[in-house]
Amino acid sequence: MVKTSAPGSVFFFGEHSVVYERPAIVAAIGMRTRTEIVKRGDDRISIDSVGYGKAEMNIRELERREYTSPESYKNILDPLFDLIKTFFQKTGFSSGLDVRISSDIPYMAGGMSSSTAVLSSVLGALNQLAGKGIKTGEFFDWLYPFQVKIHGGKASGSEITSSSMGGYNVVRINKSGERPKLEKKNLGRHEYMIVIGDTKVERQTKETVPYVASGWEKDKESYGAVFDRIGKIAKEGEKHLMAGDARKVGELMNQNHEILARDLGVSHPRLNRLADAARSAGAFGAKLSGAGKGGIMVALVSEKTKGAVAKAIENAGGKAYMTKVGVEGVRVE
Ligand code: MEV
Repeated sequence: MVKTSAPGSVFFFGEHSVVYERPAIVAAIGMRTRTEIVKRGDDRISIDSVGYGKAEMNIRELERREYTSPESYKNILDPLFDLIKTFFQKTGFSSGLDVRISSDIPYMAGGMSSSTAVLSSVLGALNQLAGKGIKTGEFFDWLYPFQVKIHGGKASGSEITSSSMGGYNVVRINKSGERPKLEKKNLGRHEYMIVIGDTKVERQTKETVPYVASGWEKDKESYGAVFDRIGKIAKEGEKHLMAGDARKVGELMNQNHEILARDLGVSHPRLNRLADAARSAGAFGAKLSGAGKGGIMVALVSEKTKGAVAKAIENAGGKAYMTKVGVEGVRVE
């Protein structure tokens, strides 16, 4: 049996604009997804995920499955069958498997990149089981195609970096070549503290990413200018993050939230309410994280303010999570 885990992620800056080749800062969080894989004596592949349910098929049936487009993901576990099928094809490894998945990330809470954490931990476990020596730096190339299909046809794949390699990372996707490449820079260790606020409003990345894309298709100039402004914030954010200036980082997070809400229209009244509550309770800054229109927000706090910020988020109707940030990426347990 092999056991692995991979962390969820938050965006300090740059969700959505990162899909359009602007820089973003993503960080791994202390809430992890865990995978256990056991080889079976027969040829069945069984996936059992706490929260997402159970599905199984035999290897022959898996080989016949076509996962060619976002629409081909009919079941929530289809991306994992797609990953297992691809792993078998690319590595030559094949076996009946029992795959069990559990997570600290509440399965309803969008915005903590739980789908990327699942992909990373399952790939990590397959890699360990089959002894294929895939390096974490190669996870992007492996997982990007699944991320695109999960996100409805367009994705940056940025969270693959934080969930596989951990830490704080500046990422920028470069689509100029034959295959998209993610340029990444690890920002080292820092002592920042966050509180995550879950709006409890379910949202689907596969709806929000195409929503922004349809606006961009109609008016590339205006949207391009918005993406540029967010990209500039991410760049400035990197400087202050490196300098340990939480106040400046927080101010820029507030600015990034404002643009996401006003210009891209991906906030939600509850996200705004939780962000306002966090700021009033003393957070350095707060913003929605991930695709938006629901899901979660992230507040940058200090040891002194974290309790009050968490309480303010709860009083404003959210569910607060105090968790670490900048943690280790995928690992064997
Ligand atoms: C979703 O978690 C983050 C987005 O930027 C989409 C992506 O980067 O693929 C909205």
